Amino acid sequence: MPTKICCIGAGYVGGPTCSVIALKGGDNVKVTVVDINQERIDAWNSDELPIYEPGLDEVVKQCRGKNLFFSTDVVSAVKEAELIFVSVNTPTKSYGIGKGCAADVRYVESCARTIAEHSESSKIVIEKSTVPARTAETLQKILQANCRDGITFDILSNPEFLAEGTAIKDLFEPDRVLIGGEQSERGQAAIEKLTEVYAYWVPRERILHTNTWSSELSKLAANAFLAQRISSINAMSAICESTGADVSEVARAIGMDSRLGSKFLRASVGFGGSCFQKDILNLVYLAESLNLPEVADYWRQVVTLNDYQERRFSRRIIRCLFNTVSTKKICLLGFAFKKDTGDTRESAAIYIAQHLMDEGANISVYDPKVKHAQIVHDLKSVSRDDPARVERLVSIETDPYAAMSGAHAIVVLTEWDEFVDYDYKKVYETLPKPAYIFDGRLILDHSKLKSIGFNVEVIGKSV
Ligand code: UDX
Ligand code: ADP
Repeated sequence: MPTKICCIGAGYVGGPTCSVIALKGGDNVKVTVVDINQERIDAWNSDELPIYEPGLDEVVKQCRGKNLFFSTDVVSAVKEAELIFVSVNTPTKSYGIGKGCAADVRYVESCARTIAEHSESSKIVIEKSTVPARTAETLQKILQANCRDGITFDILSNPEFLAEGTAIKDLFEPDRVLIGGEQSERGQAAIEKLTEVYAYWVPRERILHTNTWSSELSKLAANAFLAQRISSINAMSAICESTGADVSEVARAIGMDSRLGSKFLRASVGFGGSCFQKDILNLVYLAESLNLPEVADYWRQVVTLNDYQERRFSRRIIRCLFNTVSTKKICLLGFAFKKDTGDTRESAAIYIAQHLMDEGANISVYDPKVKHAQIVHDLKSVSRDDPARVERLVSIETDPYAAMSGAHAIVVLTEWDEFVDYDYKKVYETLPKPAYIFDGRLILDHSKLKSIGFNVEVIGKSV
């Protein structure tokens, strides 16, 4: 009999993770991914999946309808399952206590109530969403207080470390799989049951067992450390721009120190994504609630520096364009928070567009994967006082050359590979002079652009 697995939440985490579990577990597992969002489930069952992720289509095609199912029937999937992944969103709270900092765990709580109400047998419930430390305790209390007699729940923490754009690769070959659970006999048995699922493809020595709280905190810590490296190199980029040092050279020089390592030292216009800022703010809130203000201040600074980096870049664009961008066309190349994803959550592009719209710029946007409606939605959400300005000021193009044509400045905000190979000589002809190009991702051939005639402005160096 295959192990019956249910995943509540068919988003960027639940969808790819469970598709890979189905692929690798084969006949040993039956995986049902459920969501309350009918449109999302319909998309998972169609040829156009709701998220763009390299390699995901092939995985889903191989398993869907065999041992992988997508459904809105949460209750049936919960009833049937032995293992339940809770993979719902935990956004930063936008109201009440902890507003702007704490994670909103109401969707997690609502899942716990559904599981308790409908379970007719004991279950292992696995936190997959990033949650504040000690959420497992909350889950346990709600489940135990609402369940039928004789039914037990074991709670595990199994945070996801995949990065968007490389999710399938990260899932196929994880650096480690982390499983946290109770130290009791039953807790250990639950850990072993989940370990067996991953052991279909992950070597056992890479499956790490810890107590629940270490596992929950490790997820926040990993994201905080990664984001901290980016803020550190971005802080250096500001010094480089004022001194003649080159941030890529600095990154290379320090990255060759084996104690530091070379990854996550790419200076940029600022980190985005659904995790870094949210998790750091979550950590800040935790430290504050533990009465550790110095710790809270320390981590908060990583986010402050990121905001500064975005603002600094917008100001540089405005300064170079003779301190006025009003009515000038500015082309944003890239809107996703990184390449190889259509996700825009917390993308630096949103905030840079906002700064430029505040100054009255006409913005044209091109991104190879982000949907038009998403760009409009994001820009309206930062234009609440005047949402109509988005229609007035923004055009979204499907052809990059149309987006760039006639612009006073071209601004690279996402590191999509295709941006490197455009015919910038052809583009240059169409631009008002002096022509400016701003590379917020350090991906273009700067000397070539200069020889064409562009004024080139790059994060962390003077060209
Ligand atoms: C991150 C973590 O990497 C992952 O382990 C966790 O599960 C979820 O959060 P993700 O946000 O998908 O993953 O992407 P990541 O590759 O970490 O990039 C985050 C942001 O940092 C992007 O905007 C990226 O462009 C930026 N970044 C990354 C830099 O600016 N410089 C770098 O050197 C690396
Ligand atoms: P992540 O990036 O963490 O995967 P997403 O927002 O992409 O976050 O996905 C979370 C999914 O969880 C959404 O599709 C949302 O509809 C779903 N969801 C939230 N609450 C529930 C719930 N109580 N039952 C089922 N699905 C839920």
